[in-house]
Amino acid sequence: MLKKNIYNSLKLLKYYKLINHNLIYNDKAINRYKKDNYEISGNKSKSLELLKKSIISIRNCSLKKQANNIVFCDGNPKSKIMLVGEAPGANEDEEGLPFVGRAGVLLDKMLEAINLDRKKVYISNIINYRPPENRRPTEEEIKRYLPFITKHIEIINPKILVLLGSTAMNALIGNDVVISKMRGRWIEKKFGNCKTSVIITFHPAFLMRQPAQKKMAWIDLKMIREKKINLKI
Ligand code: URA
Repeated sequence: MLKKNIYNSLKLLKYYKLINHNLIYNDKAINRYKKDNYEISGNKSKSLELLKKSIISIRNCSLKKQANNIVFCDGNPKSKIMLVGEAPGANEDEEGLPFVGRAGVLLDKMLEAINLDRKKVYISNIINYRPPENRRPTEEEIKRYLPFITKHIEIINPKILVLLGSTAMNALIGNDVVISKMRGRWIEKKFGNCKTSVIITFHPAFLMRQPAQKKMAWIDLKMIREKKINLKI
């Protein structure tokens, strides 16, 4: 009898794995023409895992030596919208997640203003370990971590890439540009096999110091909202 019960339970588990049980409890109509939206493909999760492992195995990096945790990502790896910040601060280093401190609170509000939240987007940073005293990462540190964030973008393959602040902008677009001229416009850019529309906006930490610039950030956010609608994201 017990054997039969175990057998039946295993069969049921197998069945639950085959179907998407999230859909059973969902009252939304099923779009049969769209692939399910709940799990990332094996390839993507494997690539992300490998990328994380290769960052963890970086040698002779003083940032890594002093940090408590790697800060790799937050959000949904299937998202078509990716945000890239500068580097973790103290809270992020504690929790191992990007944008969980004061700047993160503002970022959440910015996302909410355009009907997004961190579960609907994917978030990472140029640098994966906290620079001491929250100083800006050096050119050498940026150079060291650049191949990783570039690969990260390629794996996520976003349709919209939002660069938060000038460190992310200079690292990924070039050192010869200034944020006041570059923000608020779309740039088409390729990262490996990923073709994406990039927009640069002010970093939330900068907006906390310069609240008068929030009106410019709002323009950028509205552009993201519009693009999202146009791209049917
Ligand atoms: N600032 C950043 O650029 N990234 C974080 O994760 C936190 C603060």
